[in-house]
Amino acid sequence: MKVALIFGTRPEAIKMAPVYHKLKSKKIDVKIISTGQHREMLYQVLDLFKIKPDYELNVMREGQTLAELTSKLISEIDKILKIENFNFILVQGDTISSFTGALSGFYNKIPLGHIEAGLRTGNIYSPFPEEANRRLIGNLAKVHFAPTEMNVDNLLKEGYNKKNVLKVGNTVIDALYWIKSNKYSDLNKIRDKYKLNEKKYILMTMHRRENWGEPMKNVLKGVKKYLEENKELYLVFPMHINPIVRKVIKEELKGFEKKILLDPLEYLDFISVMDGAYYIMTDSGGIQEEAPSLGKPTLVLRDTTERPEAIQAGTARLIGTSADEVYKYMKLLEGELYLEMSRAVNPYGDGNTSQKIYEYLINMGEEVDD
Ligand code: UD1
Ligand code: UDP
Repeated sequence: MKVALIFGTRPEAIKMAPVYHKLKSKKIDVKIISTGQHREMLYQVLDLFKIKPDYELNVMREGQTLAELTSKLISEIDKILKIENFNFILVQGDTISSFTGALSGFYNKIPLGHIEAGLRTGNIYSPFPEEANRRLIGNLAKVHFAPTEMNVDNLLKEGYNKKNVLKVGNTVIDALYWIKSNKYSDLNKIRDKYKLNEKKYILMTMHRRENWGEPMKNVLKGVKKYLEENKELYLVFPMHINPIVRKVIKEELKGFEKKILLDPLEYLDFISVMDGAYYIMTDSGGIQEEAPSLGKPTLVLRDTTERPEAIQAGTARLIGTSADEVYKYMKLLEGELYLEMSRAVNPYGDGNTSQKIYEYLINMGEEVDD
């Protein structure tokens, strides 16, 4: 069996790393096609996990449209698929890299496994374009590796054959456990590097397209107002490398003293900074999955989420992006709510998701069409 892993962004690399190592350790012929969607941010992850892509595309141009990126990727991935005779393709999540990997595979009639399948907000424009990407990938997939029961239900409601929908957890937990067991002693030391051990801080990240511009500015207005009143808390903000995002953050926080703006952190450093945070404010998908395991209250800066599990478990709140709501929830976290939200829970599996994906691949053969 010859398997292609196709990915290109930071979160995909984090979530594919355990799968890659699992398949390699079982002597499966596995190759990585990196789309290069996230250049430097991808290498921060691949170096940590000691992974080297077999193919690296060079398609990113500043400010290019989704259509340009999509069309370039489909034709570039297609060329590779025509040289290699893969029997199976795995893609993860909902980015343009995963969607184009899935579609190129379909054009070459190669069966597809979708990792992190079945996440839905129910609103095709939110998150944009990820909700559409994940639905489209679902249509092309032979097998859907769903993290949770809710994700399984979403797929069954859409009519997928239940034999092809497997509840396996999320590989993000495999990655997190790997960090904890191999590198845990480093986590305290790492915070020293950023002089964060002596500070009480909120960790913030924002990058989603639907938050570009006004929503992001409004969130930051609410945060500034609150932090100007609160003497002890600081804002630590590792900024996504996207220039559109960085411009807004830098302009809005200009002159504000209680901020620590950082470049994107290496994964290990990020886990350490997350582990030391008082609480987290984010629009990230992956962070919504990691924070509950670390027992960190998380304010989700979005109007919708495809990850309701942490909200139901009580560690996360969906608060939107208005300055008033942001301020209100930061204020509320001074009270009992903080303890209520600090319980560590993990709705995303037991760290054996990659093993389950491997087991599917070796036992494959029972052909069931959707
Ligand atoms: C992408 C994904 C999003 C995912 C997110 C994870 C799409 C459309 N978006 O959003 O689903 O949640 O990654 O972080 O698939 N850039 C660099 N270097 C990098 C990364 C980005 O220079 O390492 C710049 C480039 O100029 C690029 C821009 O950022 O044009 C935007 O990158 P892109 O991958 O299109 O979108 P993200 O916002 O990163
Ligand atoms: N992350 C990281 N460094 C950072 C910020 C995030 O390593 O500076 C990790 C984080 O732990 C999570 C993933 O990147 O695993 C989330 O990526 P992002 O928020 O970019 O994408 P999303 O999950 O929203 O698609």
